[in-house]
Amino acid sequence: MSYPELHARSLADPDAFWRAEARRIEWHRPFETVCDQSRLPSVRWFVGGETNLCHNAVDRHLASQADQPALIWVSTEVDQEKSFTFGQLHLEVQRMAAIFLAHGVGRGDRVLIYLPMIPEAVFAMLACARIGAIHSVVFGGFASHALASRIDDGAPKLVVSADAGARGGRMIPYKGLLDEAISLARCKPEHVLMVDLGRVPFDPIPGRDLDYATERERVLDAQVPVTWLESNEISYILYTSGTTGKPKGVQRDVGGYAVALAHSMANVFQGEPGQTYFSTSDIGWVVGHSYTVYGPLLAGMATILYEGLPTRPDGAIFWNLVEKYRVSAMFSSPTGIRVLKKQDPDLLKRHDVSSLKGLYLAGEPLDESTSSWISEALGVPIIDNYWQTESGWPILTIARGLDDRPARLGSPGFAMPGFDVRIVDEVTGLEVPAGQKGVVAIVPPLPPGCMQSVWGDEARFLETYYRAIPGREVYSTFDWGIVDEDGYTFILGRTDDVINVAGHRLGTREIEESISSHKAVAECAVVGVADALKGQAAVAVVVLKDSAVLTAEDRARLSAEVMATVDRQLGAIARPAKVYFVGLLPKTRSGKVLRRAILAVCEGRDPGELTTIEDPSALDQLRQLVGTGNA
Ligand code: PRX
Repeated sequence: MSYPELHARSLADPDAFWRAEARRIEWHRPFETVCDQSRLPSVRWFVGGETNLCHNAVDRHLASQADQPALIWVSTEVDQEKSFTFGQLHLEVQRMAAIFLAHGVGRGDRVLIYLPMIPEAVFAMLACARIGAIHSVVFGGFASHALASRIDDGAPKLVVSADAGARGGRMIPYKGLLDEAISLARCKPEHVLMVDLGRVPFDPIPGRDLDYATERERVLDAQVPVTWLESNEISYILYTSGTTGKPKGVQRDVGGYAVALAHSMANVFQGEPGQTYFSTSDIGWVVGHSYTVYGPLLAGMATILYEGLPTRPDGAIFWNLVEKYRVSAMFSSPTGIRVLKKQDPDLLKRHDVSSLKGLYLAGEPLDESTSSWISEALGVPIIDNYWQTESGWPILTIARGLDDRPARLGSPGFAMPGFDVRIVDEVTGLEVPAGQKGVVAIVPPLPPGCMQSVWGDEARFLETYYRAIPGREVYSTFDWGIVDEDGYTFILGRTDDVINVAGHRLGTREIEESISSHKAVAECAVVGVADALKGQAAVAVVVLKDSAVLTAEDRARLSAEVMATVDRQLGAIARPAKVYFVGLLPKTRSGKVLRRAILAVCEGRDPGELTTIEDPSALDQLRQLVGTGNA
């Protein structure tokens, strides 16, 4: 059957398609209904079925693979490597689960994980899955305010954290940020389980903080059976940015997620048990959840957990790991590859990468030059795949296990099974013809694995995703796209105020709120300006309360202060690369900030005719500052 036929079948008869796919995982109790569409656009997959993600990721492989590697931890930050077989992983996960249970964490309780890329992060995620607790992993690069809002939203009973992360050989203390976040939060967790990595000294808070090593000693022989969960119970919450300053908790199920991941592991990544998978994504992002932790383990593959930069000790570290562990599939971001372009090209030839069957890149647009450069350098197919935190697995790609059509540079390819992707007009909601730009939308029911809801806010879920396109109840991806005459889809950037810095999704509103908390700031706008390395860079345009003329020193000082405010509240990842101080933001007569005009000026482009602008001179000062490079 050709891929277009198979795809059409998956849409025409989702029950038959996904019933067959559901055999890829083990069920404790069979499901009664494949797809409950009675409350569209919400859907429930595999209703009545009972399963468990940890069972399918770990226990299931014990019979045949107990002594094979499951988790390979490599840290070039602290020069350590540690490997765990499926048998050892099983023991560690049960110990972690026993600690959780001993401190009152049970089914449906939330556990917030704020850890660097260390094995304990994986143990903690799987331990939650094992006992039916809901994990909320917060990226270690986020700071106290970002963390506090996630604590308040998820109301975790327990937080798992460590003394410090590391970046480029520098230790980044976590404990102070976490303590500050908890003091800011209205909702305090009962306990913090601290993994003491011996990286930086810290003061435990008596009664609240627990020491992981001590707790673990007590439960070395723990046997914690898996808790069988109904397919639609919640496996995790993962926060992502949108149009408002308040991040959304993307909520995911158990059974549908397991099936979708198993399906993609077989058909997109062509993974086989016993092979090694290497995703460079941090566990704090969706790629880390789906393809550093759950996906490879579900497929019985070993997964590499890498703590470090792509360029340390040198630009060959990725290929060194590919050679050493005979990696068969690797997942990274275009930025992760672009940073290597500046390195000595010989580094790419130093290692034998013949085990590698594909390099998968996602998270941001893959430019043609990066794609051709790395493909030629490695002699390996590059597979662009487009998806979102909300979808949990690729929406568009060329699934090499199912489809032999060639890739087309600049396009991730075609819709995966179950995704009924349409390009629609933003105003009328009607489908646009091939070759015309529109919003990438998906007609419900969305396939298994996609978000169930926004945690604690079903109304926000429906409002945000299903009411964005007028006249039609379709899921909006908030991306612009275009389909060519052969059906290849091209992604043209976001329709909303989300920006993408180095493959990391950031909400400009969140950054604006943080900047506005600086006492000298009256108002500001943050835009994502094109950047050759990171895809986009956050640039802030700030109006001060006191509009006196600024000296160069004033600008430098205030700019550093604004950046430090963002660092402290959100984390360095959200820090604007440039801050321009202006007297006035360009606004419409009704007071709406003209972001597209600001963006055009910051990128040195002509903003075009601005018929709605209140004061046409508002852009002049910014134009001058950008022109003179005078941030
Ligand atoms: O704008 C799209 C961009 O990243 C957004 C989703 O980011 P996030 O929720 O962090 O999930 C990343 C999962 C890989 C999308 O709305 N994006 C993601 N992949 C691509 C992409 N843009 C272009 N091409 C891609 N392959």
